[in-house]
Amino acid sequence: MFGLKMPSLVACMNIILYFLSLFLCPSAILFIKASETNAEPYEHDRVVNLPGQPSNPSVSQFSGYITVNKDHGRALFYWFFEAQSESSKKPLLLWLNGGPGCSSVGAGAAVEIGPLTVTKNGEGLHFNTYSWNREANLLFVESPVGVGFSYTNTSSDLNILDDSFVAEDSYNFLVNWLQRFPQFKSREFFISGESYAGHYIPQLAELIFDRNKDRSKYSFINLKGFIVGNPETEDYYDNTGLLEYAWSHAVTSDQQYEKAKQVCDFKQFNWSEECNEAMDVVYNEYSEIDIYNIYGPACLLNSTSSTVNDSRSRRSKSLSEGRNGHRLRMMRIFGGYDPCYAIYVEEYFNRIDVQSSFHADIKGRNTNFTWEPCNDFILNTYNYSVFSVLPIYTKLINGGLKVWVYSGDADGRVPVIGTRYWIEALGLPVKSSWRTWYHDNQVGGRIVEYEGLTFVTIRGAGHLVPLYKPSEALSLIHSFLSGKHLPTHP
Ligand SMILES: *[C@@H]1O[C@H](CO)[C@@H](O)[C@H](O)[C@H]1NC(C)=O
Ligand SMILES: *[C@@H]1O[C@H](CO)[C@@H](O)[C@H](O)[C@H]1NC(C)=O
Ligand SMILES: *[C@@H]1O[C@H](CO)[C@@H](O)[C@H](O)[C@H]1NC(C)=O
Ligand SMILES: *[C@@H]1O[C@H](CO)[C@@H](O)[C@H](O)[C@H]1NC(C)=O
Ligand SMILES: *[C@@H]1O[C@H](CO)[C@@H](O)[C@H](O)[C@H]1NC(C)=O
Ligand SMILES: *[C@@H]1O[C@H](CO)[C@@H](O)[C@H](O)[C@H]1NC(C)=O
Repeated sequence: MFGLKMPSLVACMNIILYFLSLFLCPSAILFIKASETNAEPYEHDRVVNLPGQPSNPSVSQFSGYITVNKDHGRALFYWFFEAQSESSKKPLLLWLNGGPGCSSVGAGAAVEIGPLTVTKNGEGLHFNTYSWNREANLLFVESPVGVGFSYTNTSSDLNILDDSFVAEDSYNFLVNWLQRFPQFKSREFFISGESYAGHYIPQLAELIFDRNKDRSKYSFINLKGFIVGNPETEDYYDNTGLLEYAWSHAVTSDQQYEKAKQVCDFKQFNWSEECNEAMDVVYNEYSEIDIYNIYGPACLLNSTSSTVNDSRSRRSKSLSEGRNGHRLRMMRIFGGYDPCYAIYVEEYFNRIDVQSSFHADIKGRNTNFTWEPCNDFILNTYNYSVFSVLPIYTKLINGGLKVWVYSGDADGRVPVIGTRYWIEALGLPVKSSWRTWYHDNQVGGRIVEYEGLTFVTIRGAGHLVPLYKPSEALSLIHSFLSGKHLPTHP
């Protein structure tokens, strides 16, 4: 089912050893046979080489499916990279993208922080010298089912997706993934991600935190903390920040700002019609620039999907009323400073040779299957039932988890303003006040340490921070994982 592959060199060696052993000593036969049949299960998932992958340096990578629900036939697809050096000493880091409905393989791995990023027009892969697998063993999963290569055999599952569904499947994914990679079972574990994963991550962390207390029923996961970037967290502050950012960055007019402030009550889960109309005007001010990186260029390539397409948005909006309509329009995480990346990634992951090297060419799949960076259906039908994850922050901070929040300050979608509002609302005592951190002698951004939470801005970065500021982002994750301070002197 996974297109089982063994590195041919290893297979050869085994055959040679086997015949040698016939002459040397009979007990060796037993030994070699035993080790063959006991080959670690994860070796079946090893990716020998991906089409267009540079031959140097070598990358130790695995991919495949993990069943998360047997009854419904749900399986999540993952891509895993061992740390570039001293893998056995480095922590395990999971990365999640948002949407909801966007692929962590297509964005996080292939565009942002993976060691192999997709090149122009999906022709091949490039070695990313700023990959976060310099700091950790790096795991990406396409979640929930319906995203990328992940699937369910019970199609009605796709109509009931919400935050708790995602958390439950992600939890089962981790437990079963650790079953396949037992060498990571007791390893320090951290979760990272951006955007709508600002909802996923605290809720997954809470599930692990709670279940870790009952070792008779659940397997222990050595969760130490999480780090989220430009995270959707609490609708009131996030939307207030979005509107203020559009005004304070000269995107929308004084009049429109005042009007939206007057008619919108962002404390409501659903917006009034007047608010929808006012916010529509604000969103439209972003239509020719990139809301995810307001000073960056926009992608001018045409594409069948993946790009912010006005007529598409308008059509989609009319399909769903109110708040979800706005989400639909605004949650395309791939509108990055070059949304053309999404086009390249889509081309690459739809190649048959890529899917087969990736163990993603499962039998019985609809022959019309298309891998997409984001699944519009999920974005459209997802049950947005959680207004705020702030209570979870309070709980997990008190529970001793390490919590970091970072923000690219050129993102108009989940802007730094709203993030500052909700961090302030947590009411944590300040441990080390607002100051500058440096990168290559330039101001990388600002940093504030609270008791239990560290907040870092990345100057000039948009929504996908590691895409726009790869070197700064590597420095950030190094600091988070190692506990070494970001430089506060040039
Ligand atoms: C989904 O159904 C296919 C075809 O019956 C089967 O091969 C596969 O194992 C099922 N997936 C899961 C996760 O059970
Ligand atoms: C918001 O609107 C949706 C769709 O109209 C509705 O199903 C839901 O109950 C509303 N939620 C609240 C809190 O009013
Ligand atoms: C994109 O499509 C428009 C309208 O179909 C066309 O005028 C334009 O030349 C296309 N641009 C590119 C870069 O292909
Ligand atoms: C935008 O979407 C509409 C409707 O789906 C489609 O007809 C049109 O070709 C798209 N335009 C571009 C530039 O992709
Ligand atoms: C696949 O696509 C073709 C052409 O669009 C269509 O005729 C066919 O019914 C589709 N098959 C399935 C299984 O959806
Ligand atoms: C969405 O989730 C809420 C809270 O779990 C639930 O009460 C509601 O029935 C769900 N709505 C739909 C349409 O499934």
